Amino acid sequence: MDSSSSFKTLSYDDARGVYNLIGAGQDTQAFYEDVATGKVIAHGDFASAESVFEFGCGTGRFGRMLLAEHLPETATYRGVDLSTTMIELAKNKVAEFGGRAEIALSEGGPPSYEPRAAFDRFVSNYVFDLLSEADIAAVISEAHRMLRSGGLLCLSSLSSGHGLISNAVISVWSFLHYLNPRLVAGCRPIEILPFLNDELWEVHYHEAVTPFGLPSEVVVAERL
Ligand SMILES: C[S@@+](CC[C@H](N)C(=O)[O-])C[C@H]1O[C@@H](n2cnc3c(N)ncnc32)[C@H](O)[C@@H]1O
Repeated sequence: MDSSSSFKTLSYDDARGVYNLIGAGQDTQAFYEDVATGKVIAHGDFASAESVFEFGCGTGRFGRMLLAEHLPETATYRGVDLSTTMIELAKNKVAEFGGRAEIALSEGGPPSYEPRAAFDRFVSNYVFDLLSEADIAAVISEAHRMLRSGGLLCLSSLSSGHGLISNAVISVWSFLHYLNPRLVAGCRPIEILPFLNDELWEVHYHEAVTPFGLPSEVVVAERL
């Protein structure tokens, strides 16, 4: 389907091991991730959201930011992650928001256990680039089921390069992934758009960004 097909992805157990080890260190990636996640916030219309789901919530930094600065005071947030370390960090990070915020441990598979049409935003930042192609497709299918009509799918991920410097940087990154995916925390470049069926999703926003030469893409698509 895309250039990600040649990469071997981590098993759920291996991904859990990596992120249990990295824990709070994940937030040091903010120096480049915040450029893409800032665009997710700018184009995800969170000011009108009522219920947000985040797949792979990490330390809860993004969820906390949404609750503190971008969501209406009545809006709720639910984040899931497969790492027990991340879950503990995320619970602490959003504790001050009481019943508005829920954090739950997942076993790593697509969120088929979540209710239908219960959310109006489905967010996932820098998680799809860890998943197999089959899981990316399955998570997007679950997102369609979980979102109400008109809800927004808000994604950011590592992507292939779009220029001399980012092509060079991502080639080195991809080589490290080839040697051992753990060297780059399991993440490899992917393209999101080929996974979005245009009969089910209308892409509102798509942009490639390359902070520090690291290529990422941002997609916001409406559930039809
Ligand atoms: C690169 S980190 C990104 C964390 C956070 N979204 C952020 O942007 O800071 C990837 C996160 O996805 C989680 N993760 C990886 N594979 C997952 C899966 N199959 N299901 C749920 N979470 C997963 C990891 O535990 C980790 O917290």
